[in-house]
Amino acid sequence: MALYMKAAEILEKVEQKRGAVKTLVYDSKFPNIKQLFALVCETQKYSSVLQEIIESTKILKDTKLRIHLAKVLVYDLLIGRGVKCGGAWKSLMMKHRSRLEAALARIKIKRKVSRNQDLLPSSSQQNQNNTIPRYVRVNTLKTNLEDVIDYLKREGFSYQGKASRLEDLDRLSGKMFLCDLHLKDLLVFCGKTDFHEHFLYKAGHIILQDKASCLPAFLLNPPPGSHVIDACAAPGNKTSHLAATMNNKGKLFAFDLDAKRLSTMSTLLLRAGVTCHQLANQDFLTVDPQSSEYKEVKYILLDPSCSGSGMVCLQDESSGAPSDPERLQALAAFQLRCLNHALQFPRLEQLVYSTCSIHAQENEDVVTFCLQQNPEFRLVHLLPEWPERGHEPLTHCLRASTVMTRTHGFFVALLERRPLPSEEIFTRATTVTSAEEKCETIQSGPAEEDTENPKEQSGSSCSKKRKRKNRKKQNTQES
Ligand SMILES: C[S@@+](CC[C@H](N)C(=O)[O-])C[C@H]1O[C@@H](n2cnc3c(N)ncnc32)[C@H](O)[C@@H]1O
Repeated sequence: MALYMKAAEILEKVEQKRGAVKTLVYDSKFPNIKQLFALVCETQKYSSVLQEIIESTKILKDTKLRIHLAKVLVYDLLIGRGVKCGGAWKSLMMKHRSRLEAALARIKIKRKVSRNQDLLPSSSQQNQNNTIPRYVRVNTLKTNLEDVIDYLKREGFSYQGKASRLEDLDRLSGKMFLCDLHLKDLLVFCGKTDFHEHFLYKAGHIILQDKASCLPAFLLNPPPGSHVIDACAAPGNKTSHLAATMNNKGKLFAFDLDAKRLSTMSTLLLRAGVTCHQLANQDFLTVDPQSSEYKEVKYILLDPSCSGSGMVCLQDESSGAPSDPERLQALAAFQLRCLNHALQFPRLEQLVYSTCSIHAQENEDVVTFCLQQNPEFRLVHLLPEWPERGHEPLTHCLRASTVMTRTHGFFVALLERRPLPSEEIFTRATTVTSAEEKCETIQSGPAEEDTENPKEQSGSSCSKKRKRKNRKKQNTQES
């Protein structure tokens, strides 16, 4: 019963535009966030159909249910998994079941469709057709890509090799899977594949994470031994990805305001075998950049609270309309404050800023204002082969969406500190070679070193310096 009550409460707020589903679900402190999120999103998608069924059967009058509660119950009865709770509401739904089923059947006949999903507004149907695949990140702190592929093959999954274009993902069905087109250690399955009960997931060998959400840590790519801040970290998927990139070596300071989310994060990090982290239940804006504790911090990942408008289930007609302008403005102001604060860390070299929002106000606008206020930083041109770019003129940044990248909506920018004038001369002298190297890489397939370094080389002086350092380190180890 608690699930339906909470779902109805959130649905009401969402439909009155008093908040985004994602934020409201997380803030609800409900024990099974995933189940609640799915129920609210699905009910919301079918909201207009449910309204029609409820009105035509007049069940509000007969049952005395409030409209939003009726919607979630009718959704689960007719379209979802069947009403799960016991008690009075289940009896009510069962009593009116045949009337409700008949009303749904009448709507389908009227619209000349046979499947429930064909009743959805056209924008949602587009999302249904372009469903997001199931992405599985291999946790290299516990295992490696080859072992996971072998394990899955032994279980009857059918490995199709590495994707060569985006459309390969649309052909996945049943137990087929691929290696991702852009990100190493990422496997792709058809969207319906559920790994929540799988041994590899429960043992922390794989992490269930949308591809777009893997971009920030992949692009920041802090080397082992570095000091890194994850400013708004919970529930921690990007933190565990950073730790894997660092091979658990160095220091990973992770902050979050929300104690409940931090405790979930702690469990997740334990399961993922992360040991290089230090969690703090603290407002990132109060973290002192001058503190000696952070004097070695060269990398920051900033993934602050946002409208969540990129989450696919929020993009239907009922909620895809522009979010409340005041809320967006407040979020953008908060995001800019976080970004400006992060750039105060004295030895910072690179920062990734990301959101799961599709609004320019929270993305390109925030980055533009920040660069105006911090001219010592500039953008790095990311992954030239990535199909969806930031809005003009911020094409150095990446965007992601269901249609273009088969992911949730997302935005990523990488800022780096400009080199000192003396270093700039060196950078200019080496840029041409770097660009040529990258060109060659694209034509002849990635060399091992380039797959390791996801950022575009030209113009990225810090990554170049690091690459030189890494090369030097390799040489030293080899000799
Ligand atoms: C988009 S979520 C982060 C998701 C996380 N990076 C991940 O990949 O799992 C934003 C987080 O920022 C936290 N937050 C909001 N304001 C904050 C602040 N001032 N300082 C630190 N954390 C904050 C929220 O509690 C929320 O957990």
